[in-house]
This record gives sequence, structure tokens and C-alpha cells, in this order.
Amino acid sequence: MRQLGWVLSLLLLPAGLVAQPPVAPPRTVDPPAADQRPANLPEGINRNFVDPDMDIAEWLGRFEIESREVFAARQQVLEACEIRPGDRIADVGAGTGFYSRLFAEHSLPGGWVYAVDISPVFLQHITEQALDDGVTNLTAVLGTSLSVTLPPESVDLVFICDTYHHFEYPPRTLASIRRALKPGGRLVLIDFERIPGVTREFLMNHVRAGKETFRREVLQAGFEFRDEVSIDGFEENYLLRFRKPQAAEASAAQ
Ligand SMILES: C[S@@+](CC[C@H](N)C(=O)[O-])C[C@H]1O[C@@H](n2cnc3c(N)ncnc32)[C@H](O)[C@@H]1O
Repeated sequence: MRQLGWVLSLLLLPAGLVAQPPVAPPRTVDPPAADQRPANLPEGINRNFVDPDMDIAEWLGRFEIESREVFAARQQVLEACEIRPGDRIADVGAGTGFYSRLFAEHSLPGGWVYAVDISPVFLQHITEQALDDGVTNLTAVLGTSLSVTLPPESVDLVFICDTYHHFEYPPRTLASIRRALKPGGRLVLIDFERIPGVTREFLMNHVRAGKETFRREVLQAGFEFRDEVSIDGFEENYLLRFRKPQAAEASAAQ
């Protein structure tokens, strides 16, 4: 019996602890994640969101309020997203979830929304509200600072609203978004303008870079730029649309 236990514990040992022939160390393709954290990202930019004692009422009051551009313009933003019945949509950085709920409604019949966030409190709120409202085509997904944690080629549209500037490892997160999109899938990015001398000081300090830098980063991650959509009432925000190339286009471009 003791011998059986010994054999079992040997089988359960991590592979690295069992004597093996020498092998070459694995080749790393990407630099370590820590090297990709933008130098000018404000320290602790997501601290409030991952706090388990976060006051959801406070954030509802900040995010779902008509004086906020992206909330007031939600119908026009929805049109720019060109939602079709049956679309599978990831709302990355869903926050309190008002866009996730709109997407869930407008992708029926047959559509599905993944509300992705790194904040367990936001995700709990989104789940509870969906249950209360009888929304049955929405799943809350706990992402990480490195990945949206969605399966490959699982969504038609990724929507990122006032969240890209919160990404701590943009190349990693963008790579996970590209993987999660189907070939030809759409990416809609809303973020803040950052124009020295024009943009108010809070945003100059809070948002690490402006539109052209973010556009370049998304292109470098293997997306194709479609256009910028002008939204009435957007004075501090902009909306850019991108596309993941079809497989054939991507290989032809290499
Ligand atoms: C300013 S809020 C915007 C929320 C929502 N999109 C809106 O416009 O109301 C930023 C959100 O991004 C989330 N977040 C930050 N980094 C993230 C990441 N790497 N992946 C997913 N969500 C992230 C935060 O937890 C927070 O909910």
C-alpha cells in the first residue's frame, strides 16, 4: 500500500521535478508582461475597480448619468456598432454594464453578450441586474490584466468604451482580443481625446496617450483601421472602428 502511495505521488509530481533528459529551455516569443506596462500609465489606475468593498451605487452615479458623453450618446454609439441579430459581442471593461444590456437587447434573436471586466463587484452587479430584468443572453466574464479570457474566434464584435486607457498590458490584452474575434470581426474603440492645451488637466493626467498613439497600437496588434465615426455630443471622446483581417488577407500581408 505504501508502495502504491509512492508511485501515485511520483505520477502527480510536476513534470519538472521528475528526472528527465535535458531539453532546451522554451523559446519566449513575447517579452515578459512586465516589460509591456506603459511607462506613463498612472499608478493604481484600476485600484478602485478591483476593491471588493467598492460601492456600486457610487459608480452607477458616475457612469450612468446623462452628463457623461458616452452614456448620453448611447443610441448613436449603438448604431455605430452595427449590431446584427445573432451577433456575439464582448463588452470589454463593461463597468456597470449599461452597454452590455443594450447589446443583449439589440442582438436578439440569437445574439449573446460577454460582459468582460477585471472587477468582480461590477460583474456581480451585471449578473444580478440581468437576472432581475430577465435578460438571458448575457454572461459576465472575469478577465485579467493580461487577457479577456474568451475562447478563440468566439465573438463578432469587441467593444471597448473608456477602458483602453486602463489596460495595464495593452499588447497582451489586444492579442487576446484579436484571438477572441472571428476573422473579419469588428472592434469599436471609444476613448478620450488627449490634446495638450485643449484637454482638461484631469484627463491629461489620467489618460496615458492620445488617439493617434492608441490607433497605432491597435494597428500594430494586427487590426485594420476602418474609420472614425463622428458622434453628436462627443466633445471629449472619439469613436474608432477596426476590423480583424480575414485569414487569407492576413497571410497575404505577411
Ligand atoms: C472607466 S471604466 C468604463 C466602464 C464602461 N465601459 C463604461 O464606459 O461605463 C473602465 C473599466 O475597465 C475595467 N478594466 C480595466 N482594465 C481592464 C482589462 N484589462 N480588462 C477588462 N476590463 C478592464 C475596469 O474594471 C472598469 O470597469
